[in-house]
Amino acid sequence: MSLTTTGEASRVALAREGAGKLMHRCKVLAQCTEKPGEILRTFLSPAMDEVHGTMRPWMEAAGMTVAVDWAGNLRGLYAADGNESAPRLLIGSHLDTVPNAGAYDGVLGVLMGLALVEARAVRSYPFAIEVIGFSDEEGTRFGAPFLGSRAVVGELESNLLQCVDGDGVSVADALRDYAALRPETVEAALSPRAAAYLEFHIEQGPVLESRNLALGIVEGLAGQSRCNVEFRGRAGHAGTNPMKQRRDALAGAAEWITTVEAIAKRYENAVATVGQIAAEPGGVNVIPGVVRCSVDVRHAEDAVRAAVVQGILEEARAIAAKRGLHVKIAQYHEQPAVKLNAELVALAERAAGHAGYATKRMTSGAGHDAMVIAPHVPSAMVFLRNPGGVSHHPDENVAEEDVAAAIHMGLCFLDEFAAHVKGKGQSA
Ligand code: GLV
Ligand code: MN
Ligand code: MN
Repeated sequence: MSLTTTGEASRVALAREGAGKLMHRCKVLAQCTEKPGEILRTFLSPAMDEVHGTMRPWMEAAGMTVAVDWAGNLRGLYAADGNESAPRLLIGSHLDTVPNAGAYDGVLGVLMGLALVEARAVRSYPFAIEVIGFSDEEGTRFGAPFLGSRAVVGELESNLLQCVDGDGVSVADALRDYAALRPETVEAALSPRAAAYLEFHIEQGPVLESRNLALGIVEGLAGQSRCNVEFRGRAGHAGTNPMKQRRDALAGAAEWITTVEAIAKRYENAVATVGQIAAEPGGVNVIPGVVRCSVDVRHAEDAVRAAVVQGILEEARAIAAKRGLHVKIAQYHEQPAVKLNAELVALAERAAGHAGYATKRMTSGAGHDAMVIAPHVPSAMVFLRNPGGVSHHPDENVAEEDVAAAIHMGLCFLDEFAAHVKGKGQSA
């Protein structure tokens, strides 16, 4: 397609204006937190209600109809001109955070949807845009991630509903209470008219910066496994029990954690992380009797990930047997690797090219809502350069000019997608 100089100049101006607004909005939303002094927003929390309350007027001012579904997802619909049955382009990401988070992970992708709706006011398209702010991608509250997007695609299975938070509240109970207090919530479901899903996200790594690129096009996402591993020995007096007569759960866990690292290193590009550990009873002069650890394993090939998980769990059993400990393993999260839709990936790449940006195709090691949506709706993802590759950290950042690049590219994506939708209509 050919772009006129005027059209291109107005896109650049809209992108610049939109980027400034988006950066400001990220700062405003960063104030919505459960913990003063840091950013923390978990599934179905009052801080998330605050985000919804802040975003709703922005979305309504952009001409969107806004609702929250029973899984706590914020949904804003910008209808296609006069066409109720038009296909929908979904643009989204998540609004929850890790503990002590940065201001951009997730939030940026939701605000990108809003920025594109605001900037598209100059044109009309043959498709509606639904902006979705998913309620949980990080899994901070329940350990299990993607609760928001899983609800939307109908995949909140019973093992996930039974996960409990630090207060012993289950996902099922939290959802029931949430909806009971908010009778206005709508169905958490995917529109049958959903034709594509587009997610913008900061890269959360250093690759784009090292290549001097503002934008990357994601082709696929690494699969994930998460397990809880509990070692149970015998607590006792730290001064009176000889070393040979102990069943120290923490010493066993420590030995196991070093094998987790060693096993992951045997497989190229595999990563395994023990991110949580809790020892009981936790006395300075008491041998630890019980230790609970989390482990998170990722790889772009499911067979490799399965091999790493198997190796790690075999080591846990072997170390426990050797040390006279009991081990209890719960494998509670399996998310297969995902390849994104080749046609949409190429479309996103073309859109970036039309906007004047060279890109690199990438595989995401981080999990994103696109993983859950992609098996149901053709999906594409765009990464924005992340200075220093710092993410899941308060220093997380993105440059305003790279946000402008993403908005500019996104506007070209909308044009390309309009042609794609028309083409599909003609060939149907
Ligand atoms: C989410 O950011 C994850 O990859 O765990
Ligand atoms: Mn994250
Ligand atoms: Mn994220």
